[in-house]
Amino acid sequence: MESHGALTSDNRAALWKGRFSEGPDAEAVAFETSIHVDERMALDDIYGSKAHARMLGETGIIPLSEADKIVAGLDSISKDLEEGRLSIDYSAEDIHSFIEGVLTDRIGEPGKKIHTGRSRNDQIALDERLYLRRCIPDLKNRLLTLIDTLASIADFHTGDIMPGFTHMQHAQPVTLAHHLCAWAWMLVRDTERLSDGLKRISLSPLGAGALAGSSLPLNRESAAKDMGFDNVVQNSLDAVSDRDYCIEFASCFALIQMHLSRFCEEIIIWASTEFSFIELSERWSTGSSIMPQKKNPDFAELIRGRTGKVYGSLVALLTMMKGLPLSYNRDMQEDKESLFDSYDTVISCVNVFTKMISSAKWNCDTMSSSCDGGYLNATDIAEYLVKKGMPFRTAHGVAAKAVRIAIEKQRRLEDLDISDFKSCSDLISEDIYSRITKDACVNARNLTGGPSSERVKEQILLLKEFVRQKR
Ligand code: ARG
Repeated sequence: MESHGALTSDNRAALWKGRFSEGPDAEAVAFETSIHVDERMALDDIYGSKAHARMLGETGIIPLSEADKIVAGLDSISKDLEEGRLSIDYSAEDIHSFIEGVLTDRIGEPGKKIHTGRSRNDQIALDERLYLRRCIPDLKNRLLTLIDTLASIADFHTGDIMPGFTHMQHAQPVTLAHHLCAWAWMLVRDTERLSDGLKRISLSPLGAGALAGSSLPLNRESAAKDMGFDNVVQNSLDAVSDRDYCIEFASCFALIQMHLSRFCEEIIIWASTEFSFIELSERWSTGSSIMPQKKNPDFAELIRGRTGKVYGSLVALLTMMKGLPLSYNRDMQEDKESLFDSYDTVISCVNVFTKMISSAKWNCDTMSSSCDGGYLNATDIAEYLVKKGMPFRTAHGVAAKAVRIAIEKQRRLEDLDISDFKSCSDLISEDIYSRITKDACVNARNLTGGPSSERVKEQILLLKEFVRQKR
């Protein structure tokens, strides 16, 4: 393993030590260093530096031959990092100083030119954008896999009726497919939000320097084009002090995590003995050290629990930025821990959630028989009467009377005698029975977005099409 000499523990402040007669206090170094966090952007830092070097060569700011040497040196560093021949030196202040140090060790004098016309302030802003551009598509793909998984499960259950809830009380019958699609649509929005964020970060801050650009004839536009950005950030002060994109993505992560957490809450309830709507696979459940019978939904609970720190990261970022005057302030170094931690948490939660849900067993009979207890078809009696010309408010009262009789007789609405119905309204006749079965109630709700199997099949196709297009 190579260790490089430019940045030893005695020489940590290599990039800026010239102005100082004393080295920094060891505790000060430990306090300000960020390499343990920003090391994950090593390849992005190298990618950006290569584009910078090429631009320095093309503009004649440095000789082309030296630009080539820098690029080749940077390539060798990234190869060695990827293949494990070079390890990060944690005594370096940050990833920028580490890479510049290794480069100069390897290629000598030309390495000292890589930082021409550049500051770590525009460099870090660039690295973050490049990192997000590289990693966000992975999260997007995992969300697409989850959407696809939910749509596929839904496809099996367009005829499986379950109670729909409001206030956690039985409301109207829906199907498991309809319910699963509702979750999938939230994830569609999450995916679109990520794509939208990616569009906004496609601007290069490089060339903004420390805050005020450079007197050297840099070509910001060509470097931006080289790196595949749509354009450059238009204001140098804004370029080095903007962290909106961190906050934007952290808020995307918070929304994704909120959706997963709500879904997990439901799974935890559904896995209870009282509900028994779902049975989680043994591979995605845990046991108890004392109660031998236990099979616990810990993974759903952990996902729900980790939502706290994902929200925490968003609040940390918003609060970190709220009082910062222009332009760069060192406070901003703290952005990465929150951004990376929330990203890591969300991506692992999406992954685990997908595995947990795709291996679960759905107890459709239990769901269906659970509809028998809650008068879920009361609204259908009212709508039956509306179809026979009764004003809805009157029909609501008539159906409520039928519910009272059913409660008194301890029967389901569909088991009342015709005389019971007639005592509520003369407009009710024998055909009521065929209108208030679970199936009839679900399939009569045939508007776009409704639970009828025909409509839900359309939703499933739309979800599948979304996944296909975005992949
Ligand atoms: N580690 C710093 C950060 O993440 C990089 C920029 C350092 N700039 C400086 N002027 N000290 O923000």
